[in-house]
Amino acid sequence: MEQLLLAWFHEHGRDLPWRRTRDPYAILVSEVMLQQTQVERVVPRYLRWLERWPTAAALADASTADVIREWQGLGYNRRAVNLHRAACVMVEQHDGQVPDGLDALLTLPGVGPYTARAVLVFAFERDLGLVDTNAGRFVARAGAGRRLDAREAQAVADSLVPSGRGWAWGQAVFDLGALVCTRRAPACERCPVSGDCAWYGAGRPDPDPVTGSAGIAAPQSIFAGSDRQGRGRLVDALRHGAVAAARAADVAGWPGDPGRAQRIVEQLVADGLARLDGDELSLP
Ligand code: ADE
Repeated sequence: MEQLLLAWFHEHGRDLPWRRTRDPYAILVSEVMLQQTQVERVVPRYLRWLERWPTAAALADASTADVIREWQGLGYNRRAVNLHRAACVMVEQHDGQVPDGLDALLTLPGVGPYTARAVLVFAFERDLGLVDTNAGRFVARAGAGRRLDAREAQAVADSLVPSGRGWAWGQAVFDLGALVCTRRAPACERCPVSGDCAWYGAGRPDPDPVTGSAGIAAPQSIFAGSDRQGRGRLVDALRHGAVAAARAADVAGWPGDPGRAQRIVEQLVADGLARLDGDELSLP
């Protein structure tokens, strides 16, 4: 399985900018952006970010407001605040460097088990398995042929990594997941490792092992009318200037529901995405 997948990656792998570097800070930026935003949308924003803030020290020096403004359009704005805070922690505690260890990485704001491992694999070339939405499908189908809980999925993913090839393996698994081993219609007929796939070998029985497996995100909840949409609208408005708190319900898109707007304002302030000064709401 290893040689087949690595050879396939060599031929079909995508040329993505974060694959041309081992700079741990650049890898961390890419992984945080990729947590909830699609590859094509991330590429130009990743390049622009690194031009503006090429190091953790440069990012730590920026204002939170500028960092939130730069995040515009990527969604899930809390990631911007966390990335900025992580840069500050790196400057204060790690000499401006991304720490090279799982426990230290996990202390950084916004860095969970997946992102910490991705930095270790893609920046420090460690041999660790990665379980995210795409990779998790491969692990459940090819690696196990059955539904996996989080602990099992990580163990199976770790066991599949060929020694010394963690970087290429991780990238290859992502591309297989994105291009072949897709959620709804996996293209087993052009999969390089169908011959070694537990699920394919068993005749692709129902249920698909992906259903309910760990690491495989549930479909995102409906955006229209959600709190997330209202929060996004408010932060978008704040990117352009302060907003009177009394107008928060209108700006959020819920005229006539000031209670809901107030709750959202409180969340934004608690998350470090907004500041309330008297009656004026602004970026922090
Ligand atoms: N998603 C998270 N990390 C990725 C990577 N290195 N390549 C493609 N998709 C990814």
